[in-house]
Amino acid sequence: MASQTDHAQSLKLAREDRSFFGHPRGLATLFFTEMWERFSYYGMRAILIYFLTDTIGKGGLGFTDSKAGAVYGLYASMVYLLCLGGGWVADRITGQRRAVLIGGVFIAAGEFCLAMPSEVSFYAGLVLLMMGTGMLKGNVSTIVGQLYQQGDPRRDSGFSIFYMGINIGALISPLICGWVGHNYGWRMGFAIAGVGMLAGLIQYVLGGRHLGSAGLHPASTGDPVKDQRQKRNAALAVGGGLAVFGLIALLGAAGVFQMTAEGIDNIEGWALLGIVVVVFSWLLLGKGWTPIERKRSAAILVLFIASALFWAAFEQAGSSLSLFGERSTHRSLFGYDYPASWFQFVQPFFVIAFAPVYAWLWLALTKREPSSPAKFALGLLFGGLAFAILVPAAMMAQNGAQVAQWWLVTTYFLQTMGELCLSPVGLSAMTKLAPERAAGFMMGIWFLSTSIGNWMAGKAASLYSSMPLPTLFGSVAAFSIGAAVVLTLLIRPTVRLMSGVK
Ligand code: PHE
Repeated sequence: MASQTDHAQSLKLAREDRSFFGHPRGLATLFFTEMWERFSYYGMRAILIYFLTDTIGKGGLGFTDSKAGAVYGLYASMVYLLCLGGGWVADRITGQRRAVLIGGVFIAAGEFCLAMPSEVSFYAGLVLLMMGTGMLKGNVSTIVGQLYQQGDPRRDSGFSIFYMGINIGALISPLICGWVGHNYGWRMGFAIAGVGMLAGLIQYVLGGRHLGSAGLHPASTGDPVKDQRQKRNAALAVGGGLAVFGLIALLGAAGVFQMTAEGIDNIEGWALLGIVVVVFSWLLLGKGWTPIERKRSAAILVLFIASALFWAAFEQAGSSLSLFGERSTHRSLFGYDYPASWFQFVQPFFVIAFAPVYAWLWLALTKREPSSPAKFALGLLFGGLAFAILVPAAMMAQNGAQVAQWWLVTTYFLQTMGELCLSPVGLSAMTKLAPERAAGFMMGIWFLSTSIGNWMAGKAASLYSSMPLPTLFGSVAAFSIGAAVVLTLLIRPTVRLMSGVK
């Protein structure tokens, strides 16, 4: 009992603190942890496709575009898919605080594995990165939420500050890891990403005391015996899952069955589809939901599909658009020929520049502020226009021209206009629509849509050299704009399904 009181007391103290821009000091700890984690993620992602497709002689792996796209899609989608598992492990076994620590250690170790000159350690590194990000990314956001009491008016602005941390990390790392990777070898770039995560870890450990007891313990049922049993079962499930995975990897490596990146990527696609069917069958057809909860789940499904399609176009920043930046774009700034990875600076730069503008705009519109489905439709429209604008450039590139860098910058600008419509409202709309029993689950559902988007973004890169570029970019544009039109028609019915949630 004493420890319960201590817990409440320490959480209260952390929440009352206002020393970080009027927010609890613990927010600064989480801000910098996530900043460094994203530094590591986006620094690595900025050079991943170049490393995969570069010749072995130049320090790459010499993969075809098709194989590289599969590895990219598999990696980026697994990272977010495992956030589902990471949330569950934290709830049942470790608590969020320890999950973030373990995740950070895995990520740093993963980046250093990538830095080693071996293909086996490369794959081992990718697996560590997937598991590490799965443990860290969702859980660090959950701790942010715990820093505020129910109804604390600072919560939303706290998450906005946190979103800035994400984008500051994403902004600087392509410049640093990209430059190092380009000049000193891709593997050195991965090592720098690992050093960034280490910095984040040190900061997290030293700043931990400002978090009070937020996220320290796994969720409790109120019955210690039951808690213990749940914990043991969860640990067995995780151990079993890892053992099966390890066995499959070993058998594959030993040549017992044929494993190709494309094959595994396709299996993952089917698995993602299966998960979506199971999750939404449960939410829509499961027993025990009230009619309103069921309607809201139908609205979630609409937003979910829109979100997956949006990220499918957006996340090509690290796949097909990276290839376009490298192979077909003239890159020069004030006489300096910069590496193609620097293009990845552009999206987060526009996010940081325009997030305050959007926040102001929605406020200024007051009653005329668009509903969440309308914002999602706008997001998709921007996402589609971003690719439509690139079709003429793709035609020129098709004829062998190096196009001006402003094409890609415009594409990234339009994409970001879309992200700002969709991403900040997305999670909050999902959590408000979620049935109470599934509230924690919703963060995972949101990541699932990102995961599917990343998977599709990898598929697009796989087609890069087998499909004419104008057709590839044109199809992405047509898909997104088509989806925007359909969603626009669905705005009213979806708002009705939302039954009162804004
Ligand atoms: N830029 C966002 C981030 O890195 C992209 C994202 C959105 C990732 C939603 C996951 C979920 O956090």
